[in-house]
Amino acid sequence: MARQAGAANADFGAHADGHRFTLDDRLPADHLANALRSDVVEGLTASPKSLPPKWFYDARGSELFEEITLLPEYYPTRAEQQILTRRAPEIAALTRAMTLFELGSGSSRKTRLLLDALTAAGTLACYAPLDVSPSALEQAGAALIRDYPGLRVAATVTDFEGDLSLPPRAPGPRLVAFLGSTIGNFDAEQRHSFFTALRHTLSADDVLLLGADLVKDREVLVRAYDDSQGVTAEFNRNVLNVLNRELDADFDPDAFEHVALWNEEDERIEMHLRSRTAQSVKLPALGLSVDFEEGERMRTEISVKFRRDSLTEELGRAGFTVRHWWTDEENRFALLLAVPSR
Ligand code: SAH
Ligand code: AVI
Repeated sequence: MARQAGAANADFGAHADGHRFTLDDRLPADHLANALRSDVVEGLTASPKSLPPKWFYDARGSELFEEITLLPEYYPTRAEQQILTRRAPEIAALTRAMTLFELGSGSSRKTRLLLDALTAAGTLACYAPLDVSPSALEQAGAALIRDYPGLRVAATVTDFEGDLSLPPRAPGPRLVAFLGSTIGNFDAEQRHSFFTALRHTLSADDVLLLGADLVKDREVLVRAYDDSQGVTAEFNRNVLNVLNRELDADFDPDAFEHVALWNEEDERIEMHLRSRTAQSVKLPALGLSVDFEEGERMRTEISVKFRRDSLTEELGRAGFTVRHWWTDEENRFALLLAVPSR
């Protein structure tokens, strides 16, 4: 997660054409040093061991995620795209959004369907993507200002788990998109904190557009997270490269096997890295040496799959009312529109 110089503050005022893209880096300079260290110390000294999924997304991890979205087995991106293709004009008409925020925007590829519809409706003034990956934001921003000549792109690098404040000067109504079922990478407690914090940042006329992958056949799910080309395995193991680079650790990624399993009780896919042998890994930056038994698993991601009733109830507990629930033709994925409850 290389930090770049020259980040500008997000500013929603008028801009000369050459300044239609700004990047506000809100992560503190010691973010990698501190947040990664504390996550790694906590996760690798716990039993069972785990790591939070946000550390997947260095420049290589962001690229690998994009490759995943093109895999034949990884249906969520195509399913959500199908819903957006059909519903974007309706979403634009319902929200008449002047600002489109997007949390965890990545490449912003599917977002173009919303940008097209809001542009056609004549309401959109600004797109404000937010992501922990500066490289993803830079690449997406450059392509968007090339392809959308009138659009302001005000990007923010931050961690949405700790910082959800939306710039107050952004003109409303505001549409906040959280696509791709990234919400599924949170457990129930994290989802409640996230929805509650998000609710508090929204005004009465703002709207949440949430993508949520649905519970389905176990085989389909496991295949989506254990593809035949091994791209997901590489994505999973890439987190070890991040630890090696940032913490001077000596993980041998080949000494760990990619595992994707369906946790029936919690209705979630889990990705793990399973140690092929008994081994000891050194993390000198943390003064830590971590022992793995042969076959020991370290959990690197959960990907919760949702049901309509329980997700609607969860959102309700955080102060949102679901107004629309759309699915793809095969009922694999849902896109929902929720508003602050009165
Ligand atoms: N929305 C896109 C990308 C999903 S991948 C899509 O639907 O295809 C998840 C994205 O969320 C990545 O771009 C990753 O960098 C970002 N992300 C993950 N954890 C994050 C966090 N804690 N804060 C901000 N962004 C995060
Ligand atoms: C970003 N997130 C919703 C993806 C998912 O499906 O949980 C990340 C991913 N992990 C493996 N494949 C894709």
